Amino acid sequence: MNSHKPLVFLVTALSLLLELSVSKHSGVTRHYKFNIEMQNVTRLCQSKSIVTVNGQFPGPTITAREGDRVVVKVVNHVQYNVSIHWHGIRQLRSGWADGPAYITQCPIQTGQSYVYNFTVTAQRGTLFWHAHISWLRVTLYGPIIVLPKKGVPYPFPQPYKEIPIIFGEWWKADTETVINQALQTGGAPNISDAFTINGLTGPFYNNCSAKDELFFSIANHTMTVVDADAVYVKPFKTNIVLITPGQTTNVLLKTKKHRPNTAFLMEARPYATGPASFDNSTTAGILEYHLSSNNATNNNTKIALLKPSLPKFNDTVFATKFSKKLRSLASSKFPALVPQKVDRRFFFTVGLGLNPCSSPNKTCQGPNNTMLTASINNVSFVMPNTALLQAHYSNQSKGVYTADFPANPPFKFNYTGNPPSNPAAAAGTRVAVLPFNASVEVVLQDTSIVGAESHPLHLHGYNFFVLGQGFENFDPNKDPAKFNLVDPVERNTVGVPSGGWVAIRFLADNPGVWFMHCHLEVHTSWGLKMAWVVMDGIRRNQKLPPPPKDLPKC
Ligand SMILES: *[C@@H]1O[C@H](CO)[C@@H](O)[C@H](O)[C@H]1NC(C)=O
Ligand SMILES: *[C@@H]1O[C@H](CO)[C@@H](O)[C@H](O)[C@H]1NC(C)=O
Ligand SMILES: *[C@@H]1O[C@H](CO)[C@@H](O)[C@H](O)[C@H]1NC(C)=O
Ligand SMILES: *[C@@H]1O[C@H](CO)[C@@H](O)[C@H](O)[C@H]1NC(C)=O
Ligand SMILES: *[C@@H]1O[C@H](CO)[C@@H](O)[C@H](O)[C@H]1NC(C)=O
Ligand SMILES: *[C@@H]1O[C@H](CO)[C@@H](O)[C@H](O)[C@H]1NC(C)=O
Ligand SMILES: *[C@@H]1O[C@H](CO)[C@@H](O)[C@H](O)[C@H]1NC(C)=O
Ligand SMILES: *[C@@H]1O[C@H](CO)[C@@H](O)[C@H](O)[C@H]1NC(C)=O
Ligand SMILES: *[C@@H]1O[C@H](CO)[C@@H](O)[C@H](O)[C@H]1NC(C)=O
Ligand SMILES: *[C@@H]1O[C@H](CO)[C@@H](O)[C@H](O)[C@H]1NC(C)=O
Ligand SMILES: *[C@@H]1O[C@H](CO)[C@@H](O)[C@H](O)[C@H]1NC(C)=O
Ligand SMILES: *[C@@H]1O[C@H](CO)[C@@H](O)[C@H](O)[C@H]1NC(C)=O
Repeated sequence: MNSHKPLVFLVTALSLLLELSVSKHSGVTRHYKFNIEMQNVTRLCQSKSIVTVNGQFPGPTITAREGDRVVVKVVNHVQYNVSIHWHGIRQLRSGWADGPAYITQCPIQTGQSYVYNFTVTAQRGTLFWHAHISWLRVTLYGPIIVLPKKGVPYPFPQPYKEIPIIFGEWWKADTETVINQALQTGGAPNISDAFTINGLTGPFYNNCSAKDELFFSIANHTMTVVDADAVYVKPFKTNIVLITPGQTTNVLLKTKKHRPNTAFLMEARPYATGPASFDNSTTAGILEYHLSSNNATNNNTKIALLKPSLPKFNDTVFATKFSKKLRSLASSKFPALVPQKVDRRFFFTVGLGLNPCSSPNKTCQGPNNTMLTASINNVSFVMPNTALLQAHYSNQSKGVYTADFPANPPFKFNYTGNPPSNPAAAAGTRVAVLPFNASVEVVLQDTSIVGAESHPLHLHGYNFFVLGQGFENFDPNKDPAKFNLVDPVERNTVGVPSGGWVAIRFLADNPGVWFMHCHLEVHTSWGLKMAWVVMDGIRRNQKLPPPPKDLPKC
């Protein structure tokens, strides 16, 4: 703790106190009960038994106002271990409720229950919840809607209605088998059979025929983006929204004059840059206007179905332009508290790698008889057998993790050029330790060892500011001069550009253990993940409280 600088502490403690004081608990508690149970659903002409919450797919919507407490009792009635993550909720001093299995808690085992208890603080907009263990989030997910405090207006026209749209992927096969098979053979998992909007595949799959970042568009309608990851942004109009796994956004949609016998397709399909094959299908929903029930679709009339146009699968130019449009609102009511100086700097290479075949019969399905792997600074993270947060809280890290996550890659190379000859990653459960209230800068650099690819990196427990991004190798001498320290977008998930880098900053004002990982599920399975241990501060309200009594055991 010799790095604990009192000077830094003073300045940044201010913003913490400010945040805590503006976000006092409203006194309202919202109670939910999540029964994890199997349910049969039919998609692509095939009935399949899936893991659900309360038999619903997608699961129930959690609605709360900023400042409310949310209490969710999760009861596990299925054969799988389960845990639920409240994606994007800051969990200020409530890390025990964050949810990633083996990071903040042991899983909820069959027949057990756990009460997630947290307060929604200084956030407003849309987030989502999902399972955070193995691949169960394929079907275990639902929206979280955070409304402004009572009487506090939106910084844009009051919407008439809020409609959540949640994108997903659908496999005909059992997804736990899909990922287990991939990890055993070393190859890539089988691609999905469809994308979904609110759990439905839409009209393009013929209903019987046959993970990515998605382009989304609605025919003949312009959307106004007003919010990203539950933080207001400067509004901008667009026909197409780009959304990476783990991101959320609120858009305003203005209805048009009623057009009889016209329906507008809403379509989504991937933005994909990697060398691997991907599900290149398109999912769709339909937007229709009704004046009254009498005017509902008439069976005898032909309906004109208008189609939107979406960018090419690999349209990185569009993706870059879109990301650059996102700016914090940065108003006096909703300031952008961008850390102006840096206490801790990290340079993380992120990407895939190849490990030698370790299959007993010496046959692996990765390129050239290898096993696919993924890493940050060449560390391919291995899940521990007990939760990191418990080990940290009880000072029993020995044998669970080591506090030596490298701040820089083990050796320098042209990260986006020809890969070095031995790109194998080293397995380990290593974490990076941060003093309370440290201002942290992380540059995330994509590597092209297996092929350049965009990686949606998600940080738990924090929002970060996205200061800048670029292609090829980050240049520490030239690039920081171009950082936006005024109104950068503030969010919890950012796409590391394919063959490029992105720079983020956050203030480590939330004690606990916080997962950071690629939100492409298979990359997480392969090890593209790490954890930050943020130490307690000295004041009472800067310390992580003890664990709840019902915290699951391993
Ligand atoms: C799902 O379908 C299977 C086979 O038809 C049946 O045995 C099972 O009881 C059903 N499960 C539920 C939850 O309805
Ligand atoms: C939730 O946590 C708060 C604050 O720690 C506590 O006062 C409350 O009793 C908890 N509620 C439940 C249902 O556990
Ligand atoms: C994945 O695809 C391969 C090749 O088509 C097939 O043999 C295998 O059974 C599939 N795996 C699952 C879990 O469906
Ligand atoms: C050998 O391993 C490969 C990949 O792990 C697997 O597909 C194959 O079935 C195995 N063959 C035998 C004979 O075990
Ligand atoms: C929809 O947009 C297309 C292309 O911009 C245009 O040609 C068409 O007239 C529009 N139709 C309606 C019903 O708005
Ligand atoms: C989609 O992918 C399949 C292989 O999975 C390929 O045969 C097909 O040509 C692709 N379609 C488009 C439009 O790229
Ligand atoms: C609504 O339905 C009525 C009766 O069927 C019809 O006269 C009228 O034109 C319809 N209005 C629109 C806007 O389609
Ligand atoms: C359309 O057809 C369905 C059954 O095919 C029928 O139930 C419905 O009443 C019809 N609607 C109209 C507006 O004719
Ligand atoms: C995008 O894919 C097309 C083939 O579908 C290819 O011709 C083009 O070079 C690719 N563009 C980029 C920027 O990779
Ligand atoms: C596989 O091996 C061949 C021949 O040595 C080489 O040209 C190719 O680049 C290798 N592919 C990968 C993905 O390493
Ligand atoms: C890295 O390799 C790429 C592709 O070969 C090349 O365009 C780029 O100039 C190289 N960058 C550096 C810093 O050497
Ligand atoms: C469930 O979690 C417990 C505790 O970590 C572990 O011992 C057990 O093997 C897990 N069960 C399954 C089916 O993964």
